[in-house]
Amino acid sequence: MWNPAQYERFRDERKRPFFELLARVDAAAPAQVVDLGCGTGDLTLVLAERWPSARVTGVDSSEAMVAEASRRAAPERVRFELADLAGWTPAAPVEVIFSNAALHWLPDHPALLSRLVSLLAPSGVLAFQIPANFDAPSHRRIDEVRGHPRFAATLAPVRRGQAQPLDFYEAHLAGLGLTVDAWDTTYLHVLQGEDAVLQWLLGTTLRPVLAALGAEESQAFLDMLRPLLRADYPATARGTPFRFTRRFVVASRR
Ligand SMILES: C[S@@+](CC[C@H](N)C(=O)[O-])C[C@H]1O[C@@H](n2cnc3c(N)ncnc32)[C@H](O)[C@@H]1O
Repeated sequence: MWNPAQYERFRDERKRPFFELLARVDAAAPAQVVDLGCGTGDLTLVLAERWPSARVTGVDSSEAMVAEASRRAAPERVRFELADLAGWTPAAPVEVIFSNAALHWLPDHPALLSRLVSLLAPSGVLAFQIPANFDAPSHRRIDEVRGHPRFAATLAPVRRGQAQPLDFYEAHLAGLGLTVDAWDTTYLHVLQGEDAVLQWLLGTTLRPVLAALGAEESQAFLDMLRPLLRADYPATARGTPFRFTRRFVVASRR
């Protein structure tokens, strides 16, 4: 379902929040670091550079992503694991649980976060970033086409990404005894290329939708979506401006 090459297409825009999240993680010399939803693993390597004495494990449920990431594995230092985060449990408590742009695919954030906190070592840190743009025009347009009679029944069970309000993350994690640093950032990306917003969405949000539809219906779905996105995100001579809000949370046990 995941396509590493399409995801890499807007690499600079997608990398930036990773570094902005990492900059706020205060962990001196963790022994175990995990990267949940590690994707192609190139950013997992950045975690290994940041904490040279740590063993770093990237976890992802996509075979294609883990196959790509595994080429970057380093014996004793960096390994990759194929697993669904919904049930993933580390062998021992972890000092840093890091996740960039993945947890929004998982349901029930109150239960998920409580479980992740229970996996932390005594001085551990949970840091994650998720999109918080689920009411943006791009997503409203996808929902509009999902609701079309041609696709609605097939797509009804296909999961959507989700984020809780910013205040929820602060209150929930503080309630579990952690010190919380939570914030939103809105980027104005100026995307390059034809139908740039559609191309962006093809790397992420649309993957589960198109996987459920199959080739022919996918084409029909995209033919309906394309003009709607062109209208909402007009291209300019500079590129296509694309507002994107992301939610960041760093919660520390100390
Ligand atoms: C948008 S990519 C982010 C990849 C990487 N963290 C980065 O910043 O480049 C989201 C990743 O989360 C993974 N993912 C989604 N749901 C998952 C789940 N339930 N369990 C494990 N991985 C999951 C996908 O396979 C995908 O590689």
